[in-house]
Amino acid sequence: MMVTENGSMHFADYLSVYRDDGEDSWDRHAVVRSKQRVSIDERFDLGRSHLFSPSLTEFADHRHVADLGPEAIARVRWGRLSDYLLRTERVEIEIVNRALALLLTGFDLPRASKADLLKIYTDEGYHVLMMSEFGYELQEVTGFKLVRRTFQDLNDLVSEVNRFSGDDAWLAATTCAIVTETLISGTLRKAADEKVFGPVRAILSDHARDESYHHASFSRLAKSLIPCLSRRELEVVEYVAPIALHNFLTPDLKNICEDLTSVGLADSQIEEVTGSLVDPIRSHAALLSASVATLCAQNRGNGAERTVPMRIPGSGSRCGHSHIFGVSQRDVP
Ligand SMILES: [Fe+2]
Ligand SMILES: [Fe+2]
Repeated sequence: MMVTENGSMHFADYLSVYRDDGEDSWDRHAVVRSKQRVSIDERFDLGRSHLFSPSLTEFADHRHVADLGPEAIARVRWGRLSDYLLRTERVEIEIVNRALALLLTGFDLPRASKADLLKIYTDEGYHVLMMSEFGYELQEVTGFKLVRRTFQDLNDLVSEVNRFSGDDAWLAATTCAIVTETLISGTLRKAADEKVFGPVRAILSDHARDESYHHASFSRLAKSLIPCLSRRELEVVEYVAPIALHNFLTPDLKNICEDLTSVGLADSQIEEVTGSLVDPIRSHAALLSASVATLCAQNRGNGAERTVPMRIPGSGSRCGHSHIFGVSQRDVP
């Protein structure tokens, strides 16, 4: 599929994110290697703790939901947690590990990058297991059932990535993975706030711990990769990145509306509850396209400084300082 020399060239200057004073730190830091799996050994009291971060689900506290009582509020937040667990399982398998599989099988990678990618592949497989098992346990403890949805937005994203075949398949998949891996660690850190039910907070924190290394690794991969890309290859990045960014930064309004309907709200009430979510979605879409176009133009236009940090417009409140396609040493945890 790809020539060996390209693999070496693309990732030759990649430095492992798991090197610590000359030692390999993955065994000490990776959740799969260093921690017991989170199990639920406390009762869930829906009047005292939340199933998802209140700051990320303020709409659940809207008076129309609150009027229905604490169980309705908990059910609406449960919908977000259920989506997080089930959607992330698919992202790990269909986006991140697919990209890693293409990189690992398509390139004769230098040792440092190959070892890091294999560790991340292992982490992601473990995350799927831990989230899946945790979801089943949570159903028993809370009495709520996981809401199995089609995730059409994710299906659409995967279809867009899969439009690329042959020599572009790995780049489309890797671009998408770079976006998700950069965004997920910020989102997880924010989601694991102290008001969240202890075991949920624990599993989010464990995931965030691994993802902070993944974030650093994928950013380094991007830094190593982008200066080597041809004009045509940059067009692949330019096409996939804004679609992925938009997909991952957009609240899933349709699913939120389904949950609000299921607790008994009328359409007019749901419009009021979700009103604050709609405008940011529209402004995000326009800004994201412009940002990626700027990034790629800068990469093409200046051979001496071809990797630039990109701040996600309007994302400060959700993702902190998320830089994509550029990272410095201090981003390594
Ligand atoms: Fe993960
Ligand atoms: Fe990851």
